[in-house]
Formats: sequence, C-alpha cells, structure tokens
Amino acid sequence: MFQLECIDCHEKYSPKEIIYCCEKCGGLLTVTYDFEKIRLKVEKTKWEKRPLSVWKYKEILPILDESKIVSLREGGTKLYKCDKLGEKFGLKNLYVKNEGENPTGSFKDRGMTVGVTKALEYGVKTVVCASTGNTSASLAAYAAKAGVECLVLIPSGKIAYGKLAQAIVYGAKVIQIKGNFDDALNIIVKLSLNHKGVYLLNSINPYRLEGQKTLAFEVFNQLEGKVPDRVVVPVGNAGNISAIWKGFLEFKELGFTDNLPKMIGVQAEGAAPIAKAVKAGEEAIKPVPQPETVATAIRIGSPVNWKKALKAIKQSNGKAEIVSDEEIVEAQKVLARSEGIFVEPASASTIAGLKKLWEMGEIDKDEVIVCVATGHGLKDPNTPVNFSPKPLEVEADLKVVKRLVGLN
Ligand code: F0G
Repeated sequence: MFQLECIDCHEKYSPKEIIYCCEKCGGLLTVTYDFEKIRLKVEKTKWEKRPLSVWKYKEILPILDESKIVSLREGGTKLYKCDKLGEKFGLKNLYVKNEGENPTGSFKDRGMTVGVTKALEYGVKTVVCASTGNTSASLAAYAAKAGVECLVLIPSGKIAYGKLAQAIVYGAKVIQIKGNFDDALNIIVKLSLNHKGVYLLNSINPYRLEGQKTLAFEVFNQLEGKVPDRVVVPVGNAGNISAIWKGFLEFKELGFTDNLPKMIGVQAEGAAPIAKAVKAGEEAIKPVPQPETVATAIRIGSPVNWKKALKAIKQSNGKAEIVSDEEIVEAQKVLARSEGIFVEPASASTIAGLKKLWEMGEIDKDEVIVCVATGHGLKDPNTPVNFSPKPLEVEADLKVVKRLVGLN
C-alpha cells in the first residue's frame, strides 16, 4: 500500500528496511501510496465518526502493524477564529491552529507518534535525534511510552528551558554539543547511518513527516471541507511546511477537494536561507554558517528539507517572508493580548510574517488564512520576560499599591 521514493531520481524502496535517504543519489525520501487502493479503503462515513486526531486518518499513514501504535492522544488541536487579531489587519477569516495543545506542547507529537511506532515495527531499542528543543521533548516522551532508550543532541546552552526540562524529565539521555543545531544533526545522522539498532527521528525521516501531514487533514475537516487560501508556517529544518503541503496534495488526490492553499514559509532574519532563496528566485539555498535568532526553535542555518520546502512554496504559488526578532517578540504579545493565545517565539513569527504580507498589500481581506502556532508559549518563558519591563516591586502596603494603580 505504501513505499519510499526518492524525490530526485524517483528510485523506490521497500518499507521493510530502515533507510533515511536515497542509496542511489543521496536525495530525500518521501512516502508514496497506492491511492487507487486507498480510495477504496477510505469510506468517508467511517472517518466522520472518528474524533479529530492523527490516527483518525490511519488509512493514509505508513503503518504495517496497528498493535504497535504508540500514542499520547496527539492531534485534534483546536482551530481558533481570531477576529480581534484579524481586525487589526482588516482580515475577516483569520485562524490560528494551536499546536501547543499537543501532549508535549508542540506539533512534533504528530510526527513522533508515527515515527516511534515505526521504531517498534523495526524492532529497534534506541531512538535518537538532534534538536532545537521540541523534537527532543517529544521524542523523549514517546520513547518513554514505548519503553525504548532515547538519546538527544542539543546545541549547548541554546534551547529554551521548558524544552530541556521536558527531555530530562521524560528520561532521555541529553548531550549538549558545543556547536549549533546543524552540527548536532550532522553527528546524529552519521551515528544512525553507522549503527543499525539506532533509529533517527529528525525530519529527514520520511515517516515522521507523515504524522505531521495530518495537520492539513484536520484543518480541512475543521473548516468543514474547505481548503484555506493560505497556510502560514514557521520554517526551521523545513520538514513541517513540506509535510502540511503533502497532506493537502493527498486530500486532492483522494478527490475530497479541487483546491490547494498557498504555502507561506516564515523565517527569522538571522536564520533565513530558504526565505532568501525564494525571494531571490534561486533554485538552491545558501546555508547560514552562524544562525541566530530569539526564536531558538528555528535557529537553523542548513535545513535538511530545503528541497522539499522550496518545492512546496513554488508548487503552491506561495511565498516566503523574513521577520526580525523585534517583530517576532511584538507578534507574540499581539496574539496573546488580542486572542489569549500564548505561543512560543517561532510560532509568533507566522503572525509577524502575515503582518508584513498584509502591509505589502499581498492579502485580500476575504481570504481564509491559517497560521500554524507550532509550540506552546510556556516552552520558553524567558523570552517574553526578557523583552518586557520588569514588574514593579513595592512594600507590602495597601496604600502604596493603591497609589501605584491610581485608586486613591
Ligand atoms: N516551530 C517550532 C516550535 C519548532 O520547534 C520547529 C522546529 C519549527 C517551528 C520548524 O519546523 O523544522 O519542520 O521547519 N523544531 C525542531 C526541533 C528543529 O528540534 O525541535 P521545521
């Protein structure tokens, strides 16, 4: 029913073996399905009865043995219509998909439920990843649930505290690398290529992205069978934007819709190799050697999935936007203060990017726009505190407090 296929030379591989990239040309792999057969399997009525979740769509997920599924009840996150925020931009149909509601507080859980299930199918005992924080938190949780060892490499001193706490408490072996995410990923990829018993769960692993594509399916269902005009996604290693695009393509392939959204990728100024390539109309990215941004989740200079992301943006007639750290921090507050939704800085970049597109006159007021808020704000409590005035500290005296708030 499914196989792995190289996105460059189209060489096909059986799902029986562990493989992360094309053995012929080194290209990225993707999971392809026999949609003729799947169409027959997917009876819409059966789907409608299942609650919104990653596994609602199990007929189009690459699993061979359902008894091995490792789930923490991921997916089914809410889609918020943000009218107050929309008003600021003159937009009538602005939505935020709040992925912070996932079990470990980020969209990574969609991928890890599938990825760790594959690890059990392959019978491996150790799962590994490099991470800017969320991937490690999510993998550590799913590994704990599955009862397998977990090793994570993180850039030293550069991941948000909440995420580090999660990886530690879920029992992962955490190693800090004196370098950035790209250095950590390099090491972990080599380690997993050399050791068959170690299963790599970064987004180079095509199975993980299959779980993440379910965000597209959910949005389609939550909009009652409509495809949004635009989906705005923060881009780091570039797996998620590619996965979401794949999801929409597959629903079209299954005949559920004729429409597709424009994919809008947003990157931070100090880590924007993909957005720069898109803006310059280039076919390849130039890696950023020393990526830097307050949005540590997307502090990545050499995104593994750049080819898939460029394709998604181009094919969808989408765009890429670059936002500064100041714009990200401001957008985080604007979203929280207008809609009561607290997201981490990387997620707030979507609101900052949308603002830029709106200011450039790119967006029509009636468009249906979904911003993907990829992670919960409490993952990184330091940023809003560091970028805001310190709360006043006074004597424990009613009179002093009254005077300060003007209630004399
Ligand atoms: N938003 C958040 C909150 C993230 O944690 C990430 C990636 C992204 C967006 C970008 O997604 O890499 O698929 O383009 N975080 C990874 C990690 C790299 O290690 O947690 P992407």
